[in-house]
Amino acid sequence: MDIIIKENYDEMSKCAADIIANCIKSKPSCVLGLATGSTPLGTYRELIKIHREEGLDFSQVRTFNLDEYLGIGMDLSKPYEEDQSYARFMYEEFFKYINIKKENIYIPDGLTKEPEKFCQWYEDMIKKAGGIDLQLLGIGGDGHIGFNEPGSSFSSRTRVIPLTEQTLNDNYESFYRKAKIKKEDMPHFAITMGIGTILEAKQLLMIASGKKKAKVIARALQGPVTTEVPASALQIFNGKVTVVLDREAASELS
Ligand code: GLP
Repeated sequence: MDIIIKENYDEMSKCAADIIANCIKSKPSCVLGLATGSTPLGTYRELIKIHREEGLDFSQVRTFNLDEYLGIGMDLSKPYEEDQSYARFMYEEFFKYINIKKENIYIPDGLTKEPEKFCQWYEDMIKKAGGIDLQLLGIGGDGHIGFNEPGSSFSSRTRVIPLTEQTLNDNYESFYRKAKIKKEDMPHFAITMGIGTILEAKQLLMIASGKKKAKVIARALQGPVTTEVPASALQIFNGKVTVVLDREAASELS
């Protein structure tokens, strides 16, 4: 596992964006696994910059997002802040600024009427695309990756999962409060790629920033490998894992 420690959030973001850009340059038709949350925002901003200034070409890139809240979907007729779907997040923060083809974007469908069937279809589409070349990951305060909450099996596949109280609180504070959406009206379930799905990617890139991630990063990278800390699965990953942290997120590492 390579752990890269950068001075601050902006440098962490630039480093992560460079790793993704290099993946695209070496394989223009690469398959990227993408993440949401506040942490990857800077990475997406940097990638947009590389696209604009250096012509990084996304025309053949295919993307699969890790997760989506169940019960909501992108609704462009609503203002962005009222639409908390991850599909909208990806569109507003990244996709609308780059030359990716709409048909090459895959995001779990939070409005599916048949979640089980959908989850199987999503798995099949990842396989059909040849698997994920590079999977970007954030980390939740309780150690989740995607929305794989503590207790998720390391062999889990794409499925519906209930969100923990901590995740609901964290995501309420980061997103829903600003949108003036009541906590009880937040989706309490999500569709997520499983840990087994994530571990099949050829390369993993985790990013984390800030003091509030320091403890969970230390548990994930240096603590015991346990399903109670889903991100500790990175320690048993067979391929290349790169973790890019800022100083604060790295501060509890020994
Ligand atoms: C959400 C997402 C995760 C993300 C996590 C951390 O729960 N499902 O993929 O890693 O939040 O979010 P943040 O980057 O805002 O701390």
